[in-house]
Amino acid sequence: MTVLVTGGAGYIGSHVVRLLQQQGRKVLVIDNLSSGVQERIGEAVLVPLDLAAESATERLTALMAEHGVDSVIHFAARKQVGESVLKPEWYFEQNIGGMAHLLDAMKNSDVRKLVFSSSAATYGIPTEDYVGEDYDCKPINPYGQTKLIGEWMVANAERAWGLRGANLRYFNVAGAGWPDLADTAVMNLVPIVFAALRDGKAPVVFGSDYPTPDGSCVRDYVHVLDLAEAHIAALDYLERENRKHATFNVGSGKGSSVFEVLAEIKKVSGIDFETDVQDRRAGDPPYLCANVSRIKDELGWVAKHDLHDIIQSAWDAQN
Ligand SMILES: NC(=O)c1ccc[n+]([C@@H]2O[C@H](COP(=O)([O-])OP(=O)(O)OC[C@H]3O[C@@H](n4cnc5c(N)ncnc54)[C@H](O)[C@@H]3O)[C@@H](O)[C@H]2O)c1
Repeated sequence: MTVLVTGGAGYIGSHVVRLLQQQGRKVLVIDNLSSGVQERIGEAVLVPLDLAAESATERLTALMAEHGVDSVIHFAARKQVGESVLKPEWYFEQNIGGMAHLLDAMKNSDVRKLVFSSSAATYGIPTEDYVGEDYDCKPINPYGQTKLIGEWMVANAERAWGLRGANLRYFNVAGAGWPDLADTAVMNLVPIVFAALRDGKAPVVFGSDYPTPDGSCVRDYVHVLDLAEAHIAALDYLERENRKHATFNVGSGKGSSVFEVLAEIKKVSGIDFETDVQDRRAGDPPYLCANVSRIKDELGWVAKHDLHDIIQSAWDAQN
């Protein structure tokens, strides 16, 4: 049986594709290559397709039958918070429209297992430093809203036609499991700092007066390879009849401040750079870290790599 991976040519998806291939599982990748790169997926079958296109349901239904698909991991989505604020309709069309087509095709094909890429952006600005899954989510931008709605779509499909869903709420994903699978988008802290260093600029720190130990924001960094393994654990979990939960935080459960990340980058790179400390940015909570007890208890998954491994692997992959 085949695992369909949407967005499999992307940064995180390609790590999961590689793990599945190493396990000898058959993989079908569907990706419109808007940010994905075909070379990342090696010999895996790739069908270029825009999930948000009107004809996508029909096409997906045919592909599921043709390839004997029995489970889906759904990564394909647009993920830039700022862009989602400027183009909200398009974000809903892409992320929600695409997911509706996918679920429709799964229902048509009686494919009942889905692992969905959700995000810590669903939480908005939590008042808990280490937030748990039952927290009342109030996303503060269209991107985060599309992820929370995606989780609701999973819950509705579970009730309506027996889907088995697992929503994985990723925290700050970084690092590289293999040198050719680096995060090439300059959107998260680690690639942003690397890009600044390449350009000979001082990395910017937004806010040093937060109520945190060193004044900079604290986030939960998870190694992309650990995250990829969480998807395999989630697929196995969906085989179980006695599933207590559908939503899981995926993080290390350990907070690292922006200054701590910068110090680790200095150590790994050997470059003693200056930093450009500016005012706080709107919408940045002081802490956004994961309570990881549920995923540990239910899926038996814990992050194995620490901040040093994350930075070292990202640095090695870009050099
Ligand atoms: N990177 C992170 O830190 C992070 C954190 C939380 C959640 N996520 C989520 O994880 C998923 C993967 O993120 P990533 O970092 O690998 O991003 P990415 O941009 O590298 O991967 C997304 C992939 O989906 C494809 N795609 C996008 N829209 C599509 C569409 N309409 N039809 C078909 N293919 C489409 C892209 O070409 C790309 O290959 C996304 O859903 C993202 O929202 C990522």
